[in-house]
Amino acid sequence: MERFKGKRALVTGGSRGIGRAIAMRLASEGADVAVNFVKDEQSAAETVKELESLGRKAIALQADISEPKEVKKLFADVKETFGGLDLFVSNAVSGVVGPAERIGRFGWDRAMNTNARSFLLGVQQSVKLFGDQGGKIIAVSSIGSVTCLPGYAAVGASKSALESLVRYFARELAPRGINVNAVSGGPVETSALDFFPDKEKLLEEWTDRTPAHRIARPEDIASVAAFLLSDDASWIQGRTIVADGGLTL
Ligand SMILES: NC(=O)c1ccc[n+]([C@@H]2O[C@H](COP(=O)([O-])OP(=O)(O)OC[C@H]3O[C@@H](n4cnc5c(N)ncnc54)[C@H](OP(=O)(O)O)[C@@H]3O)[C@@H](O)[C@H]2O)c1
Repeated sequence: MERFKGKRALVTGGSRGIGRAIAMRLASEGADVAVNFVKDEQSAAETVKELESLGRKAIALQADISEPKEVKKLFADVKETFGGLDLFVSNAVSGVVGPAERIGRFGWDRAMNTNARSFLLGVQQSVKLFGDQGGKIIAVSSIGSVTCLPGYAAVGASKSALESLVRYFARELAPRGINVNAVSGGPVETSALDFFPDKEKLLEEWTDRTPAHRIARPEDIASVAAFLLSDDASWIQGRTIVADGGLTL
């Protein structure tokens, strides 16, 4: 399948974990991909190499997306590299782990700015780079937006804000041929899980409660992301599709 032949994509936090799996999936179906990262240059360079080995154009773009100026620069770099954009994937995540009672200004701002404001600013920039035929936007969210995961209050609240923005943007941008949706995952095997207290105990509990008795792999989320970014999902607007293997059932 070459659903993304000739398309140009930007994946924030595309250098590792779920973002990397999405970038690989898009490239394997024909897209040129810009992967954004903030610190880990080596992972970004390795991902670019793998994307190129699929015969696509790829570039790693360093930018801290919690900073408005850097978001602007990121999109300017995309424009310079690809001349425009067709697919925007808002995936990067950061935040603090701990009880809501102890969230301070730093933790709150970090979660909201990296996970929600970056989406607001990223969509505002994307639409300037989309051509007359429109484009596709997705956000990567988490079931912590509508449930309670241990220590996840700040990130959970930022993901709720993100999903709300998905609905508003979907409604505003649909007349311009732009789809905006989200894929929301349960726990996925990436280094992000290392931040949870009692990780091993939680993994056991989540595995038990998931009907298929396993934790998701990044590719489980990437395939849903690719569907939402494809024309097959053109009639889906403003929705958050939960891909948690049935954990929250
Ligand atoms: N893992 C899970 O269990 C899980 C479950 C549900 C949803 N999700 C969602 O899936 C998405 C990806 O999560 P993941 O587990 O793949 O995360 P991850 O493995 O920790 O990777 C995070 C990525 O985000 C980048 N990043 C972090 N802060 C950034 C910033 N300020 N500016 C730009 N890039 C930044 C990182 O870049 P560097 O490498 O340079 O640091 C890295 O590429 C997130 O939206 C997350 O909420 C994850």
